[in-house]
Amino acid sequence: MRSLQFFSAASIASLFSVSAALNLTVFQHGVPFAPAKLPAPGAASHADEIAEAFANLGRSTIWKSIKNITFEGETFEPEGMVRIGSDRFFVSGTEEIVATASFNKTINGTDRAPGVGFAHILVFDGEGKRIARATYSKPGDNEYHLGGIDYDGENVWGTIAQYRPNSTARVVTINPHTLEDTEVLTYNDHLGGIVHDTKTNDIYCLNWGARNASKFSLGHFGGYGYGKGHGSSGGFTKPQKVTRNPSYFSDYQDCKFLGHPRMYDYRSTMLCSGLTTYAQGAITKFQLGGLAIVDTETMVPLDEVPITGLSALGVVLTENPMDVEVVDGKLRFYWLPDQHNSTMYVYEAEPMSPYEF
Ligand SMILES: *[C@@H]1O[C@H](CO)[C@@H](O)[C@H](O)[C@H]1NC(C)=O
Ligand SMILES: *[C@@H]1O[C@H](CO)[C@@H](O)[C@H](O)[C@H]1NC(C)=O
Ligand SMILES: *[C@@H]1O[C@H](CO)[C@@H](O)[C@H](O)[C@H]1NC(C)=O
Ligand SMILES: *[C@@H]1O[C@H](CO)[C@@H](O)[C@H](O)[C@H]1NC(C)=O
Ligand SMILES: *[C@@H]1O[C@H](CO)[C@@H](O)[C@H](O)[C@H]1NC(C)=O
Ligand SMILES: *[C@@H]1O[C@H](CO)[C@@H](O)[C@H](O)[C@H]1NC(C)=O
Ligand SMILES: *[C@@H]1O[C@H](CO)[C@@H](O)[C@H](O)[C@H]1NC(C)=O
Repeated sequence: MRSLQFFSAASIASLFSVSAALNLTVFQHGVPFAPAKLPAPGAASHADEIAEAFANLGRSTIWKSIKNITFEGETFEPEGMVRIGSDRFFVSGTEEIVATASFNKTINGTDRAPGVGFAHILVFDGEGKRIARATYSKPGDNEYHLGGIDYDGENVWGTIAQYRPNSTARVVTINPHTLEDTEVLTYNDHLGGIVHDTKTNDIYCLNWGARNASKFSLGHFGGYGYGKGHGSSGGFTKPQKVTRNPSYFSDYQDCKFLGHPRMYDYRSTMLCSGLTTYAQGAITKFQLGGLAIVDTETMVPLDEVPITGLSALGVVLTENPMDVEVVDGKLRFYWLPDQHNSTMYVYEAEPMSPYEF
């Protein structure tokens, strides 16, 4: 048995075998998937600036449209997104072939049939031109939903889950240079969003509707049953803890690790985006988007704002993928709300006057 010790993500990856044959389609031959020298992760490398700029957002923030970028080709249902430098966007997309159908009751702990689909990562350049697509599920796999993604400067982190609540999932890292995936663990719940705290080497994974966060301390795996409790070979990995999300205003879909910002006493934080559908029975009343800085350990939102903007197709801007940067002190968000034919909406927050909120 391994002693309790700290493994880096890279050394964890080296303990597992990389997928035998990657299901890869290259649209632009000879074009690298990612910059040779991988940049620092956008959010975490500017944690203090982002946390401070976020504190100036409010309900009456004017969101200035900076740029709309049309993404080439079929984008499926975009779920998560990371910017890897200014010229690469990695998008996780779930291809739905047969929709999940409601059981209208609970069977085996869940409420719908698994459906049929594929889990993809799509790579685009900064102008939305398609570079490659990799597929991480095989025909017939029930786990074909690739959720929110995070980038830690070395790997892209994702969850591949059944597309139904209270089901199963696996956590993978994806090498940005090759798009090869490495399975890190398997879990006995649906997982969507994920972030990797690079300082503590903990990952936080959000389940269906981001109602719970499951924390896995990768550095503790040595003493935690590495080998037995992971992998499709059997068993599920036991999390260090499961924390209920106490906030119900926005179901987070895509999160980015935001480091340990000074203004939050150096706590571990993530920046999340999402939405909630307010419905009466089967009738949708309205959908509200939102952004939040969340304490990863407690799931308590430290700061949050509603986002009411819609895409040209009428979809809430924060429906799914989001990334962030600070440009000249202003917060700039990247949103990719629409399915199939997607436009990247780049918005910047204008400062508010003192009597607005
Ligand atoms: C982007 O699209 C939105 C919605 O159609 C529009 O309101 C906005 O003016 C566009 N922005 C730019 C920079 O073209
Ligand atoms: C569930 O309810 C819907 C709407 O009433 C119906 O169309 C569907 O056939 C039902 N599904 C099952 C498995 O009974
Ligand atoms: C429920 O689980 C049992 C036991 O694994 C299985 O035989 C059955 O097919 C499952 N039912 C559905 C609807 O998936
Ligand atoms: C999740 O499913 C399991 C069976 O797989 C069941 O025992 C449990 O009650 C379910 N949990 C919820 C919250 O429905
Ligand atoms: C590769 O992915 C495509 C979907 O993009 C799927 O149709 C095909 O069956 C996959 N091939 C293998 C060998 O899994
Ligand atoms: C979420 O966490 C709470 C508190 O730990 C637990 O009671 C509940 O069963 C969890 N829900 C799921 C779906 O795991
Ligand atoms: C995407 O847009 C093109 C051109 O308008 C259209 O032909 C196609 O059907 C759209 N695809 C989807 C999946 O909506």
